[in-house]
Amino acid sequence: MKFSVFVALSSVAGAFASPAPAPQITGVTVTCSTGDRTQNHQCCRWFSIRKEVQAELFNNGKCGVANSAKGARRVLQTFFHDAIGWSPALTATGQFGGGGADGSIIAHSQIETTFVPNRALGPTIEALRAIAIRNSVSFGDILNFANAVGLSNCPGAPRLEFLAGKANISHPSPPGLIPGPGNTVDTILNRMGDAGFSAAETVDLLTAHTMASQEALNLNPAAARAPFDSTPAVFDSQFFIETLLKGTVFTTGGPGFGEVLSPLPGEFRMQSDFAIARDPRTACRWQSMMADSTLMASRFRAAAAKLSVLGFDRRTLFDCSDTIPIPLTRVDKPFIPAGLTRKDLEGFCTANPLPTIAVVGGTTLQTVAPALP
Ligand code: HEM
Repeated sequence: MKFSVFVALSSVAGAFASPAPAPQITGVTVTCSTGDRTQNHQCCRWFSIRKEVQAELFNNGKCGVANSAKGARRVLQTFFHDAIGWSPALTATGQFGGGGADGSIIAHSQIETTFVPNRALGPTIEALRAIAIRNSVSFGDILNFANAVGLSNCPGAPRLEFLAGKANISHPSPPGLIPGPGNTVDTILNRMGDAGFSAAETVDLLTAHTMASQEALNLNPAAARAPFDSTPAVFDSQFFIETLLKGTVFTTGGPGFGEVLSPLPGEFRMQSDFAIARDPRTACRWQSMMADSTLMASRFRAAAAKLSVLGFDRRTLFDCSDTIPIPLTRVDKPFIPAGLTRKDLEGFCTANPLPTIAVVGGTTLQTVAPALP
């Protein structure tokens, strides 16, 4: 079934394969037939696609989606795993280095879902594929668009840039380009550096783990959808705080692959996040985001914009960012969870002191609930 869909799409790809350089935002607002307004008439189609994306992927505008393998978290992870398939280092050896944010994870899902980090992404990929084919838009475009729309449903998230007009031509990504939780900081920074991201930008992108959980990494039922921070439905800075709290508990009952001690029962801490939070190359950037959700969101926006066009010349794309809903705002303040104090924070940035963060009263450690499916 998957194969026949792929063949069918390949044969129509030419219809929207070569985007001509398209006009950018003009400053003139047009009203689309849907009644929505945009500064580029070519963007009008995305308003109706937005309705489908919200209904079919996000249960009508939700961040987490009960009883579904979709939801904003899964789309965000899919977006990263597709785009990071871009390696100038591999290309320099004469091999195919991947096409970046080209939607190959959808076009070649029969290959890319065999990569271990992608093994839980099948239902999300199929839902994205259906919407793209129905609307004759490229897989690269639908992935960027759905990611930006999904994040807009999560309180505190930035309104991401959305550039449309990618060709629907891709080749399967080479294996081994997606960083793993058991990787050393050297390996991760080298891989991200190869794709064009500095150590600071890698931290900026890891903001994504503020609305993340694990499911496929460790199959122990005690850690099913165990979040990486205590507020996985909110795009806040809790992840940067909680990764710096002393670890005392294995949510799985013992160290699983890529797992280290976490500060709260029910929370899952990955070895890679733990190590990057403490490495001299990244610790100060990490610490600078602990108490500043606004800074965190704007840095993430910039890094995600870069990720969304990896492998493409952004001048060949057109700006449809005004089709992305304005995200829900966030009002809560960052906190040290109940049962823990400032003394439990481990500071690894030697240049700057830890910021002041409110401590939630109480002595009982909170057990973090699983994230919504
Ligand atoms: C660079 C090092 C990174 C490593 C080693 C890493 C690894 C992982 C792992 C192992 C999981 C758990 C997956 C599962 O069990 O199903 C995960 C979840 C996730 N990751 Fe990353 N990741 C990295 C960076 C990123 C980036 C840059 C993004 C996005 C820009 C991202 C987005 C996510 C999201 C949204 C989830 C949660 C998925 C869910 O809750 O269903 N990750 N990551």
